[in-house]
Amino acid sequence: MNPIEEEMVRLTADLNRHNYNYYMLDAPVISDYEFDQLLRKLQDLEKQHPEFMQPDSPTQRVGGTVTKKFETVKHVYPMLSLGNTYSEEELVEFDSRLRGLVNADIEYACELKYDGLAISIQYEHGVMKRAVTRGDGTQGDDVTANVRTIPTVPLRLQGADYPDFFEVRGEILMPFARFEALNREREDIGEPPFANPRNAASGTLKLQESAEVARRGLDFRLYYVMGDNLPLTTHYDSIMQLKSWGCRVNEVMKKAQGISQVIDFMHFWDAERKKLDFPIDGIVIKVNNFAMQQQLGMTAKNPRWAIAYKFKAEKQSTLLLSVDYQVGRTGIVTPVANLTPVPLAGTIVKRATLHNADVMAALDIREGDSLFVEKGGEIIPKIVGVDLDKRQSGAQPVRFATRCPECGAVLVKNEDEAGTFCPNELHCAPQIKGKMEHFIGRKAMNLDSLGEGKVEMLYENGLVKNIADFYDLTYNQLLGIEKKFVSEDGKAERVVSFREKTVENILAGIAQSREVPFERVLFAIGIRYVGETTAKKLARHFKNIDALSAATKEELMEVNDVGERVADSIIAYFNNVENLEIVVRLRNAGLHFALTEAETATVSTVLDGKSIVVSGVFSISRDDMKKLIEQYGGKNVSSISKNTSYVLAGEKMGPEKRKKAESRGVPIISETEFYEMIGK
Ligand code: IVH
Repeated sequence: MNPIEEEMVRLTADLNRHNYNYYMLDAPVISDYEFDQLLRKLQDLEKQHPEFMQPDSPTQRVGGTVTKKFETVKHVYPMLSLGNTYSEEELVEFDSRLRGLVNADIEYACELKYDGLAISIQYEHGVMKRAVTRGDGTQGDDVTANVRTIPTVPLRLQGADYPDFFEVRGEILMPFARFEALNREREDIGEPPFANPRNAASGTLKLQESAEVARRGLDFRLYYVMGDNLPLTTHYDSIMQLKSWGCRVNEVMKKAQGISQVIDFMHFWDAERKKLDFPIDGIVIKVNNFAMQQQLGMTAKNPRWAIAYKFKAEKQSTLLLSVDYQVGRTGIVTPVANLTPVPLAGTIVKRATLHNADVMAALDIREGDSLFVEKGGEIIPKIVGVDLDKRQSGAQPVRFATRCPECGAVLVKNEDEAGTFCPNELHCAPQIKGKMEHFIGRKAMNLDSLGEGKVEMLYENGLVKNIADFYDLTYNQLLGIEKKFVSEDGKAERVVSFREKTVENILAGIAQSREVPFERVLFAIGIRYVGETTAKKLARHFKNIDALSAATKEELMEVNDVGERVADSIIAYFNNVENLEIVVRLRNAGLHFALTEAETATVSTVLDGKSIVVSGVFSISRDDMKKLIEQYGGKNVSSISKNTSYVLAGEKMGPEKRKKAESRGVPIISETEFYEMIGK
């Protein structure tokens, strides 16, 4: 071996061992500084000699890759989920059902049920090859680069007696301390906090930059092995084997002889879980013997040999002080109860959500009531009921606010929707900010040089009041604007200010956003109920904003998926002069308000002026069929009227449609006739 390669192999092995000592054994033998020196040495060598980089190189832990889009891959073995129960009786039933099936007493393996997300990791010749999320159980996302950054996932197994290929299953989770630190940081920069560690873990695993994943401190616990010729006979032994190969496994796995020992384990951890520094939401019990597992098999989606017992959410009763109303970024108003502080699942609860007017009415909350507050999987507690024993006689109902607490507008509630909202979209502070945040979003204008925190700073400095204002920003206006962040206890202060580089990036991003295609601009301007897909369909159908803004309700509803609610909202948008002004300004700023020539490029115009309804199944997908129609100059409409030129009928077209076409005298053509028509 080349001496440099030799050195790299040695450094890789040494660093992996130090990593193991530090993270798994909690017993480092060198200092952090020495570790960093060795790592840097390896990084330098890898830069000079990428051909010698080892597949288990610890430099991958630091991240540095950017994944544009996670590849979807099929699981070698499907990823199942578990049946679950909240009741002790059902655990007893589970056991007696199984004993009936195998005709023997059963030994179980009891484990904690980690509250994160499932991952499947493949090892080939002892080297970590690939990590895939659960997805739909059959296929998931390849998140290998991100999983490699998790220090408790071994990049190479220890020992040598492992099978050539196998898969391990386990949970990716975020410890409470990391979760809280992450949320504090996010609040500092004006990003919405994660609701719970599970969401934080799953959001983190889907990040495109693995370096950021590395920084956030995910953790891993292995709970199952899949392989064709594993040399073991019980689940417990297989997990112990993996532990000896260097994997982080369930820390408190315990064998139980019979269900009563399982129940002891469950009671113990229900009480003890408050002391853990990572989230669990129950326990899992598994038949220990593999042969018995095989014999029991599985139902449609769950193995019959395992079950999850989920802990009940913790609940407390406390006195209602008042109700606040919070206005969200889309104008939705959420009632929040202020409570007499009460300890619950490790924190002191002072506020809890009442969800919406319907829920609040159903709970029938009265002034001075004592309420039951619960903390489930979510970190934000919720009100789940009224302690009627404590209600004062003659207590008055709490009425939902009639005016917006932010801007004073009269609130609106539609009969068929649970949410109440503030209709003052253009002049209500949280909604203004919400609209701007939506505008800069990845799927909209993708102004990632801005971000929520910066938008907030621009707004607070009076530089932007609506989305058109972004395009009037100048270098001199932006340079030096600042915001002071004060920590909760008021002691620490941090000032963020825009320097040259930031300002240049922001302006470059804004300039670049002029290239964003019409369909995304249409999504970005934030017409209520016009989501990404609807915007796409509207853009393709009307081709430019003038045609769209002039469309009648009926014309709008000809577009697939556009119902009455969406059509009304589009009309209301263009009936508002302030919106029209914004559109004019954006247009003058150079944004795309029409499909480009390439986008409208029609192959031919044989179908010019023809509106066509497609129905049934074709030899190509329906979307492709619709594209063909457009390419040949036709227009897709969704319902049959006397103005429809043709109904293009595939197989299995519904009899109702046929009747309708016939009664309105609309010609029905087949797929073959259609191809003849366009000369294809
Ligand atoms: S066993 C066939 N064990 O809970 C094996 N799952 O639906 C199936 N989970 O998706 C999983 N801790 O993400 C197992 N000790 C544990 C677990 C566990 C957490 C998760 C897992 C799974 C879900 C159950």
